[in-house]
Amino acid sequence: MLPDQFLQELKYRSDIEQVVGSYVNLRRRGRTLSGLCPFHSEKSPSFTVYPESQSFYCFGCGAGGDVINFIRRIENLDYMEAIRFLAQRAGMQVPEDAGDDRTARLRQRILEINREAARCFHRTLMSDEGRPGRAYLIGRGLTRDTIVRFGIGYAAEGWDGLYKALREKGYSREELLQAHLISEGRSGGVYDSFRNRAIFPIIDLRGNVIAFGGRNLGEKGPKYLNSSDTPVFKKSRNLFALNFAKNSGRRELILCEGYMDVVSLHQAGFTNAVATLGTALTEEQARLIAQYAGEVLLSYDSDGPGQAATQRATGLLEAAGVRVRVLAIPDAKDPDEFIKKFGAERFQQLIEGSSSATDFAIGKLRQQHDITTAEGKVAFLKQFAVLMAGLPNPIEREVYLSKVCRELEVDKTAVAGQITREQYRRGAKERKKAERELIAPPPRQGGLNREDELLLRQHPREMKAEERLLRYLLRHPDRAEPLRERLPEERMLSESDREIYRVLLERCRTGQSLELTALGEQLPPQAVDRMTGWLLPGAAAVTAEEAEDCLRCLNDYAARMSREQLGQLSGEELRRYIEALNRQKNKQGD
Ligand code: CTP
Ligand code: MN
Repeated sequence: MLPDQFLQELKYRSDIEQVVGSYVNLRRRGRTLSGLCPFHSEKSPSFTVYPESQSFYCFGCGAGGDVINFIRRIENLDYMEAIRFLAQRAGMQVPEDAGDDRTARLRQRILEINREAARCFHRTLMSDEGRPGRAYLIGRGLTRDTIVRFGIGYAAEGWDGLYKALREKGYSREELLQAHLISEGRSGGVYDSFRNRAIFPIIDLRGNVIAFGGRNLGEKGPKYLNSSDTPVFKKSRNLFALNFAKNSGRRELILCEGYMDVVSLHQAGFTNAVATLGTALTEEQARLIAQYAGEVLLSYDSDGPGQAATQRATGLLEAAGVRVRVLAIPDAKDPDEFIKKFGAERFQQLIEGSSSATDFAIGKLRQQHDITTAEGKVAFLKQFAVLMAGLPNPIEREVYLSKVCRELEVDKTAVAGQITREQYRRGAKERKKAERELIAPPPRQGGLNREDELLLRQHPREMKAEERLLRYLLRHPDRAEPLRERLPEERMLSESDREIYRVLLERCRTGQSLELTALGEQLPPQAVDRMTGWLLPGAAAVTAEEAEDCLRCLNDYAARMSREQLGQLSGEELRRYIEALNRQKNKQGD
């Protein structure tokens, strides 16, 4: 276990405002700060940072905790890894015997291996052996500067060049397999995963080489090969070139499909281009984008699949609170080809003329309705009103309203009225939702697993009682002893509540602190989320009386359950049971 003094110092040097601020765009609101939650998709900020208590909480999804819990979630690390991460950031040394965490070490090793491999690939490209690679890349119009900047490399034709080189550096076969740089053959031998390919290193926001994409230079095999997920890499939550694009100084990102599109765009001066890694855009990536950009220019391939992907991505990005514009790329397959054919200036013109996602949506509606008929017009306008009601900007609304009404030759005031009604309906829905949230605690998306959800539906009273008791205990550690005696942990219905209960009781018994940081070491992040919610400045305290009611509720339930099972008890069991019940009654009486 880590010394308290170290943890205190670490927290002191990891100011939550600064740490969170490097991931989330925060706005000050009096004593707190708020921003868009990085843990779920939302359009208005419900993610709050409390500098005074050095904690955060999201009123939308219930994620919360201290700076360590934040890093655990956002970097997807376990407790010790998060500690190391923050220690490194703060320039502190983690005390040695703090449990040698094997996964953390493996991650560290894989990152080293990747960096070494990237160097190898790049060196090969620049060497004699790299001639085919250089010829290919130069043939595709890349300059030497671009190649160096992106660290592009070449994997030679041979079967084990990289394997041998890395083995010589002291990395084991097992580690190289885990890094997905080598693959195992049927006969048990191994060979390099990337052969005769141009290699694009994928670099995360901290500058780590986390994976590779390889463009085939030959005929055999798939056109692109990407590292599969490894302990340091998840395709679905990274973007190619975001490490550069985040420093482009622009509020918008250009999102493309391919590595080559991105590299070409950067070379042409559009340093805000990024791409997904051989998959369709995911919700996680959309949220990642929302942390760095308010707007995305979707620049997918002009073919059928590219257009379908455009629609899908638009939905995801808008749900994450990002505005979308769509770039139609005429007379070229993709941005890379366009730039090569027509140049950077023409691409800039495309950007300036790009249509908004709203135009795109109105276009789609027009296709769905026959507006030459009266019914068609009515149906179209109805959906148009719904679309408009969803636009946050009144000026934008006005522009589209005028345009569409002019085109359809209908009266503007009538349509405007319909939009207002639609907005009102939406408003009412949202007001109701807000009211519900004020009364009830926010949905505990992060805190409730399937089993708990089910329990909550079947036994709402008992589940609430459990939570109340835990809240009470967290604020009144001095009541731990009597509680332990009167409510054995098995009487908690929910496994997760039981776990929190056990840990709290144990820490109280041994006089350890109930600070979130310390609890995070023993409990899963979801539990810390919930407890953060309970400790929020405005959270209502549970009184001793209420705690008493909760206790009764749970013990009554346990007694009821036992009676149902009584029929199945043997004589001896029955006797012991009744004794236990009597003991309990006496205790409750005094
Ligand atoms: N892709 C992949 N596996 C393939 C083909 C494509 O992972 N077999 C991914 C790659 O990330 C690629 C992107 O999909 O960059 C776009 O594919 P495509 O449009 O076919 O390739 P381009 O980017 O146009 O590649 P190039 O210009 O090199 O032909
Ligand atoms: Mn291409």
